[in-house]
Amino acid sequence: VNKELWTAVEQYVADIVAPSDTVLDAATEAGVRAGLPTIAVTPTEGKLLYMLARLVGAKRILEVGTLAGYSAIWMARALPPGGKLITLEYEAKHAEVARVNLSRAGLAEVVDVRVGAAHNTLPLLEREKAGPFDLVFIDADKKRNADYFEWAIKLSRPGAVIVVDNVIRDGEVIDANSKDPSILGVRRLNDLLRTEKRVTATTIQTVGSKGYDGFTIAIVLSS
Ligand code: SAH
Ligand code: DHB
Ligand code: MG
Repeated sequence: VNKELWTAVEQYVADIVAPSDTVLDAATEAGVRAGLPTIAVTPTEGKLLYMLARLVGAKRILEVGTLAGYSAIWMARALPPGGKLITLEYEAKHAEVARVNLSRAGLAEVVDVRVGAAHNTLPLLEREKAGPFDLVFIDADKKRNADYFEWAIKLSRPGAVIVVDNVIRDGEVIDANSKDPSILGVRRLNDLLRTEKRVTATTIQTVGSKGYDGFTIAIVLSS
């Protein structure tokens, strides 16, 4: 079993349960044309985020790490009328591409793209009482995963779901001697998950077009 097969199967199942459309395709293409990295969630993970938003009846969603807005489109499509998604992005260029993509998706009024380092913009969300959020998707610089997770708990309501992307990283996550800041960031999040009583969580490994990786899903019990 290899990446070609995983990718073919991903395509097969995505065509069934997470088919693309002109808006999602245009978002991906605009990202490529602008030279953004091609690291958005896969269609099936996008669909999972959409389903989780539906399952929790999300009215307020927070995303850390916008890129071209691909995952934001998936999640925002799950919102009811009047729902809001705030997405935090460090790179002004990424935010600009995302804004265009979200406008094309008819989501300009629904999604608020905020430019800045998330460790600076998250405290602002608290101050302006932007929460409590029903769903938080953490998908930015992995080295700060634990900090973002702490913020996600603080800004969420009980029953909210927190998803953290890219927590397996080709299995490197089990290398206790790793010096890779991203791995250290994921391991610091995992140290927190061992003892954190305010959440209960699971971690799922994935294979597909993005290789061998995974995500963590947590439910906030109390914040
Ligand atoms: N969620 C997106 C992919 C995000 S890629 C999708 O699936 O479509 C990660 C993004 O996080 C990049 O755009 C990167 O610029 C951004 N990022 C990196 N460091 C950041 C920080 N400190 N604060 C906010 N965003 C950051
Ligand atoms: C990378 C980041 C991601 O969010 C992702 O899903 C895959 C790869 C990266 O920085 O390499
Ligand atoms: Mg990711």
